[in-house]
Amino acid sequence: MNHITGNTSVAEIVKVCPGARRIFDEHGLKGCGGEHGPSEPLAFFAAVHHANLDELLREINTEMANPSTQAYVYKESLQDYIYRRFFKAGVAIVLTVGCLWGAINLLQIALGKSFLQLRLLSAIHAHAHAMIFGWVGMFVVGFAYQSFPRFKNTTLWRPELANLSFYLLGTGIVAGMLADMLLPALASFVLGAVSGLSEITAVVFFMLVLYRTARQSIEPHNPYEKFIASSFIWFLLGTILEAVFFFAKATAPSEHGLIMRIAVIDGPLRDVQLLGFAALIIAGVSQRFVPQVYGLGKPSHDRQTMIFWLINGSLVLNIISYVLLLTTHNFYLAIGLELAYLLMPLWAILLAIQIGVFRKPTQPDRTFKFVRAAYVWLVIACGMMPFFPLYGALTHQVFAHTYMGSHRHAFTVGFISMMILGVSSRVVPILAGIDAKRMNSLWAPFVLFNVGCAGRVLLQVLTDFVPNVAYPLIGFTGFIELTALLWWGIELWHTMNVAKTGRTKLLTAPFVLPAQ
Ligand code: HEM
Repeated sequence: MNHITGNTSVAEIVKVCPGARRIFDEHGLKGCGGEHGPSEPLAFFAAVHHANLDELLREINTEMANPSTQAYVYKESLQDYIYRRFFKAGVAIVLTVGCLWGAINLLQIALGKSFLQLRLLSAIHAHAHAMIFGWVGMFVVGFAYQSFPRFKNTTLWRPELANLSFYLLGTGIVAGMLADMLLPALASFVLGAVSGLSEITAVVFFMLVLYRTARQSIEPHNPYEKFIASSFIWFLLGTILEAVFFFAKATAPSEHGLIMRIAVIDGPLRDVQLLGFAALIIAGVSQRFVPQVYGLGKPSHDRQTMIFWLINGSLVLNIISYVLLLTTHNFYLAIGLELAYLLMPLWAILLAIQIGVFRKPTQPDRTFKFVRAAYVWLVIACGMMPFFPLYGALTHQVFAHTYMGSHRHAFTVGFISMMILGVSSRVVPILAGIDAKRMNSLWAPFVLFNVGCAGRVLLQVLTDFVPNVAYPLIGFTGFIELTALLWWGIELWHTMNVAKTGRTKLLTAPFVLPAQ
């Protein structure tokens, strides 16, 4: 190769000029792409790492003309592969105690023709615990450890502490689920305490590692970072509240007392975890990652700060109004709650516009459909909320559980999980040094996941009107989602194994298709 351009892949450059890897490392490549480097073009690397393409070309050309005498020795370290254990744990959890167990719970709901079966409560809460910490948590923490130092052009502070947070999180998840299932046995109190302490420590270590990593960096602060910082504060709060929730249930004096405690704590807890932690991290990462990776350009109006305050403001208003309304029965507080609900579709639409997910991508990729669909689901989920009180009034329910459950599923599966599927399937091949253009289009899991999610969201509301039709059908939706996750999960796992062994050859069909 005589001449490199923005279209030349990083792997090709590293092949002809091994010393160029040092230049890439200075811009944050580090272990990405394994031994041979990623197959993405140089221009893509420059856009994602906020590097100047012309300057990069100049530096690489100089290195090619005058190669440095010191040989570059590639060596993978913990901070390069730590993400893999988090992602693999996330895949294992979602396919077992997450989606599979959720699907079994849903089948039991369908057979019993009621969403309000007290005997299923422990299993549903254990499922929610696994999904929030083991699915969302594992992917967020793993992604952050991998990408944050690279975004900030530095190295991960104390990787061994980051590794410890993995084991603590895992211990907390297992203990927490067992604690829920064993209630009211004495052992569940011990397990509940182990779970709370392990998870809180894991989150504190996680925040500490990222904070110290950021402090090492000389890069200027970027506006998207405030989304990430506030997401972590909500993460910590949601982890503490999860433990409080467990002990409030465990010490309830009667069944009525238990239901009252769940009514007061469950809603705010899930809002903190889903609308605070998950939504803000996705909003932050989307702004840093999505426009550059898919070539969506910049928004005509930058509304980052407004969106930030709308998400946080509506969440705080939501929680305060809800708890006070439930404890004081002062009707005026319902106005605050409705206002919080009205702000939700507003920030969802503004965020989608800010990221530009409905613009035409100049760098189309098999995973873009997941990201776009995730934002459609976000708008649907948030758009449902202003109608929640009206729906309750029309169907004569003080708290329309079916409607709230339907909204929650649109948010957790349609938005959060769809985003995890899309982003991980975009990032992992890059980290493994595999050309994503030569991989499976992922259309099948994409369609199945959307069909399963749409079926659940629609049918859960319909159980209020046509229970005899909706309940038998809803039992299938969980298994449709499980099939989609299994399909996606096997491919991701295989790709991570390629990264692990450093093999450059592609995986075999049916999950990875040969080049056209
Ligand atoms: C992928 C397939 C999934 C299935 C089949 C499933 C199934 C269920 C079922 C049957 C319920 C009880 C519904 C109700 O009472 O209205 C539930 C509740 C819940 N699920 Fe899932 N779920 C899935 C995915 C997820 C994901 C990805 C998350 C988190 C990101 C999640 C978090 C929750 C939460 C927070 C609750 C509410 C628990 C509570 O009442 O406190 N689920 N799920």
